[in-house]
Amino acid sequence: MLAIRGMNDILPENIRAWQHVEHHACALLGAYGYEEMRPPMVERTELFRRSIGEVTDIVEKEMYTFDDRNGESLTLRPECTASLVRAAIQHGLLRTPGRRVWTMGPMFRYERPQKGRYRQFHQIDVEIFGVGGPSAEAELILLSRRLWTALGISGLALELNSLGSRAIQARYRTRLVEYFSAHASMLDADSARRMETNPLRILDSKNPSMQALIEEAPRITDQHDAQARAHLDQLLAMLDEAGVAYRLNPRLVRGLDYYTGTVFEWTTSELGAQDAVCGGGRYDNLVSEIGGPACPAIGFAIGLERLVALLETQSVELPAAVPHAWLASNGDRASILAHAVAESLRDAVPELRLVVDAVPGSFKAKLKRADRSGARIALLIGDEEARSGTIAVKDLRARVPQSMVSIDDLAGHVARNVLTQ
Ligand code: HAM
Repeated sequence: MLAIRGMNDILPENIRAWQHVEHHACALLGAYGYEEMRPPMVERTELFRRSIGEVTDIVEKEMYTFDDRNGESLTLRPECTASLVRAAIQHGLLRTPGRRVWTMGPMFRYERPQKGRYRQFHQIDVEIFGVGGPSAEAELILLSRRLWTALGISGLALELNSLGSRAIQARYRTRLVEYFSAHASMLDADSARRMETNPLRILDSKNPSMQALIEEAPRITDQHDAQARAHLDQLLAMLDEAGVAYRLNPRLVRGLDYYTGTVFEWTTSELGAQDAVCGGGRYDNLVSEIGGPACPAIGFAIGLERLVALLETQSVELPAAVPHAWLASNGDRASILAHAVAESLRDAVPELRLVVDAVPGSFKAKLKRADRSGARIALLIGDEEARSGTIAVKDLRARVPQSMVSIDDLAGHVARNVLTQ
């Protein structure tokens, strides 16, 4: 039996990269005042339809939707902004303005799997509720930049756009429809359909034959009013002041309909077609649209598979978690003693990474495994040692003779010889 297409097993040899990302993200988010929360992975289908938008690829063709035994339509979350907003409303989190939250976990989209695009993938999702000004945008961008640095990743580029208010989007929609109608013969089938339903999505088309037409299309920034322009100008001033490089991209529309105002993406040229490592933006209407109070909000999500792939592409060195010591026993008495010795060592030296070899067999085979593990020393207990209360300590990395250490002195010996090197 194999895993489902587009859903990956994350294996022990890859887990260090994941933990590297999770560890730094968790520490950094905590340091900036963000609180973790964990909404469920399944929500009512209606929540995603209403928030992401009926006429988006996600809702039209990518959701894992099913009826539960009660006949209620549920969906595996394709993203979690909607879930966080739902939870924030439900639990009164929005009563404190400026609340910062984050979550991490798997998302599900029935996309065509390819490198960097999966049906189960993972995001770290970060949101700020109740801040309408560009300070929220600036903080999210600076926080993500700091995360790339902490992870040892370089070369990500920031793209920015502002979609403006719903009124601006409506005006822009009219301009776009006029433009694309005048070039109707050049539209592919998908774009022709989108003309009727969601013309902004045409700008998102990846079809090469559409690119020239899209390039010449009117720009949303031309529809901005004074408020939208001032908001964007202030944000750009903050980014300039903080030394963040960015590219304004008037074609950046994102794949979800809830955005109003600023949208942004961090992209890479090192992963092929799936180049967005992180994407987000402002969604000032969503909270009230799904039953909450008027509340501006903004956030982003990082695609962890893509970030982990980038760690590999850029050969980022990951902190090793090899054991310090490998304890092997041989013989009935010795194997009874082994765990007791290991536990008292762990009590005495809490930072010690110690593996007890549980595979039956000869010392020779156990020493081979110890060596392969990268451990610094092997601790060997045979029945003879068990009787005399001693342990043979073998340095696996230096050519020094094996020494016999009494069990009482073992913790001191290990701490001196292993942890200090
Ligand atoms: P999104 O752009 O749909 O935004 O996804 C964010 C990131 O998740 C993408 O940039 C990408 O790295 C990763 N991603 C998306 N789909 C896949 C996939 N099929 N396979 C692998 N990685 C994928 C959102 O989800 C919004 N909720 C972000 C947000 C938060 N906006 C405001 N707050």
